[in-house]
Amino acid sequence: MKALILSGGKGTRLRPLTYTGAKQLVPVANKPILWYGIEEMVSAGITDIGIIISPETGAEVKAKTGNGDRFGAKITYILQDKPAGLAHAVKVALAFLGDSPFVMYLGDNLIQQGDLSYFLKQFTTQQQDALILLREVSNPSAFGVAKVDETGRVLQLIEKPKIPPSNLALVGVYFFSHIIHDAIACIQPSARGELEITDAIQCLIDNQKQVTACQLDGWWLDTGKKDDLLEANRLILDTYLTTEIFGEIDSQSQAIGRVQMGAGSKVINSTVRGPAVIGKNCYLENCFIGPYTSIADNSKLIDTDIEHSVVLEGAKIVGIHQRIIDSVIGQRAQLTVAPRRPKALRFMIGDDCQIELT
Ligand code: DAU
Repeated sequence: MKALILSGGKGTRLRPLTYTGAKQLVPVANKPILWYGIEEMVSAGITDIGIIISPETGAEVKAKTGNGDRFGAKITYILQDKPAGLAHAVKVALAFLGDSPFVMYLGDNLIQQGDLSYFLKQFTTQQQDALILLREVSNPSAFGVAKVDETGRVLQLIEKPKIPPSNLALVGVYFFSHIIHDAIACIQPSARGELEITDAIQCLIDNQKQVTACQLDGWWLDTGKKDDLLEANRLILDTYLTTEIFGEIDSQSQAIGRVQMGAGSKVINSTVRGPAVIGKNCYLENCFIGPYTSIADNSKLIDTDIEHSVVLEGAKIVGIHQRIIDSVIGQRAQLTVAPRRPKALRFMIGDDCQIELT
């Protein structure tokens, strides 16, 4: 059994963060989203992992993730020269996959720990051609959608339908036998110009191959947008964070609940209310760090109240008089109060940023 994790694509929905980096490397609870997928594979016993990368962000994904040693896996990077679709990514990975069955996992998806092992067992014991996972959603038009009969058999799959036939979305985790390669060879690019994996699975269904759909009960998040990213951060901190403090917390400060803090970090005259994670070499003074906040390495926060937010590496937030909530602050971004008059707001805002002032 092999795994193919897709970490290519454009990441347009997470702009501006994805102007400077891969969306799959955006951290959730201070760990790149992609790494959760790799860890899920390894804990399900799959260690031969191919990762699809793009020309734009591939080098960064490779440099950060490495050859797999840190996960106990062997990682092979496969370059997809353009984001021509999920089925195109499988086509590009043919030399890596050979005729092995494999799990395809979308690198920006997160599923509850342990679920992958469970469905892998179902797939291998029942010797199917494809096993897909479905989940009820309130906005099916944003996903691949399945029409199933009363026995759960999949009748039809449609990618991002305007009028969805059900509210069952395709989760970004698929199990395939080598037969999927034949199906991919038969499909044509869709109206949006992509080779769709939904079309390839539909081709298996039309040819009476064994395609089973299982409903996922555990949580699943596609972290493609800001609010999904914040929700993923909340869920991961809520579910998995354990207290671990390596940095220094002075006697005027308190860490309440589950708090993680990396080496070299200092907390002075502040309150950190967990679940919250603070990376390495951070400096926090006169701050309130509220629940569901992740602060990445080398960040500096002074006179700041923040909660339910994600702060990326090297950000600096100083003296903001209102509480910051539901926010994502990019790498090395600076949010400060001007020391000089006239009292005014001064911005240097990158493309596609969103700022809400009251
Ligand atoms: O999240 C679940 C949904 O994922 C499914 O319901 C849809 O059926 C499926 O098409 C997919 O839709 P998205 O619009 O979310 O796909 P996205 O373009 O975001 O790509 C998913 C991941 O695959 C992402 O990590 C980027 C990567 N990718 C994407 C394309 C199109 C590649 O590596 N290569 C590609 O060519």
